[in-house]
Amino acid sequence: MCGIVGYAGRQSAAPIIVDGLRRLEYRGYDSAGVAIHDGRGIETVRALGKLRALGDALAKRPLEGALGIGHTRWATHGRPSEENAHPHVAGKVALVHNGIIENHAALRRELAADGARFGSETDTEILAHLVDRALSRGAVNLFDAVRVALSEVTGAYAIAVLSVDEPNTIVAARHGSPLVLGYGENEMLCGSDISALLSHTRDMVFLEDGDVVELRGPTSSEGPSARITTIAGAAVERPRKRIDWSPTMAERGGFKHFMLKEIHEQPDAIAATLRGRIDLENGDVHGSEIGLSPEVVRGIRRVYIVACGTSFHASLLGRYWIESLAGVQTVVELGSELANRKAVFCDDDLVIAVSQSGETFDTLAAAKAAKSRGARVLAIANVLDSAIPRLAHGELYTRAGPEIGVASTKCFTAQLTALLLVAVYLGRQRGALDATQGASLLEGLCAVPGFINELLGDADYVRSIATSLVDATDVLFLGRGLNYPIALEGALKLKEISYAHAEGYAAGEMKHGPIALIDSSLPVVVVAPRDASYDKALGNVQEVRAREGRVIALATKGDEAMHDLAEHIVWLPDAPEHVLPLLTVVPLQLLAYYVASRKGHDVDQPRNLAKTVTVE
Ligand code: AGP
Repeated sequence: MCGIVGYAGRQSAAPIIVDGLRRLEYRGYDSAGVAIHDGRGIETVRALGKLRALGDALAKRPLEGALGIGHTRWATHGRPSEENAHPHVAGKVALVHNGIIENHAALRRELAADGARFGSETDTEILAHLVDRALSRGAVNLFDAVRVALSEVTGAYAIAVLSVDEPNTIVAARHGSPLVLGYGENEMLCGSDISALLSHTRDMVFLEDGDVVELRGPTSSEGPSARITTIAGAAVERPRKRIDWSPTMAERGGFKHFMLKEIHEQPDAIAATLRGRIDLENGDVHGSEIGLSPEVVRGIRRVYIVACGTSFHASLLGRYWIESLAGVQTVVELGSELANRKAVFCDDDLVIAVSQSGETFDTLAAAKAAKSRGARVLAIANVLDSAIPRLAHGELYTRAGPEIGVASTKCFTAQLTALLLVAVYLGRQRGALDATQGASLLEGLCAVPGFINELLGDADYVRSIATSLVDATDVLFLGRGLNYPIALEGALKLKEISYAHAEGYAAGEMKHGPIALIDSSLPVVVVAPRDASYDKALGNVQEVRAREGRVIALATKGDEAMHDLAEHIVWLPDAPEHVLPLLTVVPLQLLAYYVASRKGHDVDQPRNLAKTVTVE
């Protein structure tokens, strides 16, 4: 959570930093601030609320200077307020931070005993004081002082720091929270992720945990530079990478919201995730990135998938595919639950950690635990070089491009694509699938972008259904088999952006409780394409109708029986059964989007949420 940006160059820093923060606002948006060095001293401006409030504050009090740092916050320690917003200033130092300083309480007492006075309730301010104390105790420069301060803290951080005495220097560091350096033309930048820097450069360095960097802006005699060391001061080299995302990928491109744009980008995201990975001739998947040799695959006794939120729903489908196509026992677990018990992992387990951001705390912790107990870890992530793929033995990136809307859409269908690839790969290497079966499954997958385009053509019809849900306070989503995780995902999408209470349920469980809820006021969304579970799903629809429930159905074109029962029907193309979840989710994403948008909600930044959840 929280986004940070730093700029050291020749241009006016504040607008560049605010623009970078705008692209990081998905990480947190309850307050924001900047600190700019104008050559004489540091000025800060902070504001409660979304970034536009900071923009307004800066319009009233513009800050001049070509060196600065900025932050957009998702509150952990201390409520959202201007005082708790970053940057935090202590003596000569201004500092922004993403993460949690775990020993902040003890350090606060120690600093208070030394005479420090605090202006906020945050853990971050403690770190600013530690850097300032190191300077006053004789550290030779800011770089030195930051390293001293970091040796006193425990927890997770990405930080960027300025000192009044060094008008050309930003010191930044990472441990457990991401930080990327950007090498622009006559300028250096740092930021929480690629998208914050893309409009300046595509040449980047991904810092590793424990790295501290001194960024220096250009002077009349020298170009900009970056020096990276460990906290102890040993020099380290990190490779420079050329990023192939373009700046426009992180723009709305004519859509009202990023979420709507991202729903429409799904055909491209899926096609990109498939590109170069399929061997149709042999009905197989090119497995080199997955990092599992055929021998290792044959020795796998169990697959264990860990994830949170939408990625967890994708994982439930992954289980279905891996068990049915590869014949391997598969367990799916919420990262947050795994932390609550001593799960047993073996060295013949394959643990798949699924995460759009690649940073989610609970998923990362689960992957670390599994690795330390001997399991092989495969990451499925969208963000290049993020923490989870870094620690994994192999990684399969979804190539969905930047997903800015907090509600995940295109990353979900890209994750499903990746999981299906893994299932086919495991099935082929283990001999559970022959080449013909593999080819047919992969051909079905290749046809998905076309089917989704067909569904997107009906977006206006989904919008008209959404009108009937705007006043609903409760909505039930039902599905069986492959449709059950989609019911869960449809409910999650609706609740997170429309704030209506929505519940996803296994349709077979309806008679075990939720049927008591059904009356004429309860909309029930039933995911019922013509598949193996169709007859039973139809039975559930009849039960809902018998109790006057209002049915919105997702059904396969030509389904006359459903036609007579449902109040509204979104017709689905007659697609192969194994790819249906990649299709059925699309109308549910649109439904959630249009309900929330009709309610006037901030669809891309729903209340209380952040896209990247780096806290436990
Ligand atoms: C999705 O719409 C949510 N905002 C959320 O559930 C998300 O999927 C979850 O936090 C996991 O994130 P990750 O995929 O980045 O690990």
